[in-house]
Amino acid sequence: MSRQISAPRGTRDLLPPDTAAWSHVEAVARDLARRYAFERIDIPLFERVELFARGLGESSDAVEKEMFRVSGARGGSEEGAEWALRPEPTAGIVRAYLEHGMHVRPGPLRLTLIGPMFRYDRPQAGRYRQFSQWDVEVLGDPGPAIDAELVELASRFYREVGLSGVVAKVNSIGDAACRPPYRQALVDHFTPHIDRLSDDSRRRLAVNPLRVLDDKELDPELAATAPRSADHLCDACREHFDRVRGLLEALGVPYEIDHRLVRGLDYYTRTAFEFVVAGREGQQRALGGGGRYDGLAEMLGGRPTPGIGFGLGLDRTIIALDEQGVAPPSGGPLVAVVGFEDDHADRLRVAEALRDAGLAVRPDGTNRKLGKQLEAASKAGATWAAIVGEELRDGRIGLKNLATGEQESVALSEAAARIGG
Ligand code: HAM
Repeated sequence: MSRQISAPRGTRDLLPPDTAAWSHVEAVARDLARRYAFERIDIPLFERVELFARGLGESSDAVEKEMFRVSGARGGSEEGAEWALRPEPTAGIVRAYLEHGMHVRPGPLRLTLIGPMFRYDRPQAGRYRQFSQWDVEVLGDPGPAIDAELVELASRFYREVGLSGVVAKVNSIGDAACRPPYRQALVDHFTPHIDRLSDDSRRRLAVNPLRVLDDKELDPELAATAPRSADHLCDACREHFDRVRGLLEALGVPYEIDHRLVRGLDYYTRTAFEFVVAGREGQQRALGGGGRYDGLAEMLGGRPTPGIGFGLGLDRTIIALDEQGVAPPSGGPLVAVVGFEDDHADRLRVAEALRDAGLAVRPDGTNRKLGKQLEAASKAGATWAAIVGEELRDGRIGLKNLATGEQESVALSEAAARIGG
């Protein structure tokens, strides 16, 4: 026998019955996208490396350490391009927006997608090389009302999937006017203590000192005394942040200010936010995050276009639901159609009629004894059995409630109403 092949490291097969939780979470996301008037967009799963390098920043973990590179057949170099599987969709969505001149559509544009992302990181609990996000992006809206609307939307998502204790952490990291002096203030603060910084932070201090703040190994005393971006905002950024906070309060959306929240991607400006389950902080615990990226379109060669969005990690949402013991809502009654030897045409006809009425139906395709078919139906999770026999000539079937064992003869046309659900 040849050796079995297993799934690549850092990927997971999602198998039934666990996939029911995925269907539930995706259905909530799709329904919210509809109610909040987002339109679906789809972009490629891979893009030029340059898009991510320019958009997310050379010094972001996603680009520096975690690019999942792909080359063409046998390493071919078509168009001299080097591609990477998308670590996130925001850069690709803004690329598509610019490439297709979507600014001519009546804006602001509200776009959404659900799909897989890829980061070539060391796998561990809650961190995979392939994972899924629900992403929303709003292009052409400078805020601040949309900033609050998105934090409210993500908070509502967590509530509607059934999670409790999810906290929104919010910060403002300034813009091109006030970020440079803030960066310098951080460099001035950390440089005298460089020997107390991790290797990663020492490197980042030179290229992106904000990222030192979200180093999990940062000395708590150095963190507590570090300059806060909220204290270094220019007037325009401060006013924007005050209004976002005021709107969140007016909407009654609970949030906390987190001065160390800087986000891991370079395109962010002003509002930044993240969602964690209270008491389970730490990077692998971020359920989702997002923020404003008013400079991204220009970084990608386009006209200035304000933007804001979020990406909610579905894998971590499902892990959290599991930890909180939240089961997905049941999918409604399942009906097994059983019968007697070789009456398969009748069983399939009955199955069709019940499906016409909207029920989920699995016909038994074997010739085994009725008792065995009923046993198998229960094991497969069926709650009702439609028993096909002689009485079908009069348009009737036997309907057995597999939970209570009760059985009655009903008109096929009334079976669905009898089952309900
Ligand atoms: P992000 O914070 O890099 O933001 O990722 C968003 C969420 O994706 C994280 O909070 C986490 O739940 C999930 N996630 C990230 N990496 C992994 C992984 N290796 N395994 C499992 N889950 C993971 C973004 O991606 C931005 N594009 C969000 C955004 C949209 N900002 C503006 N628009």
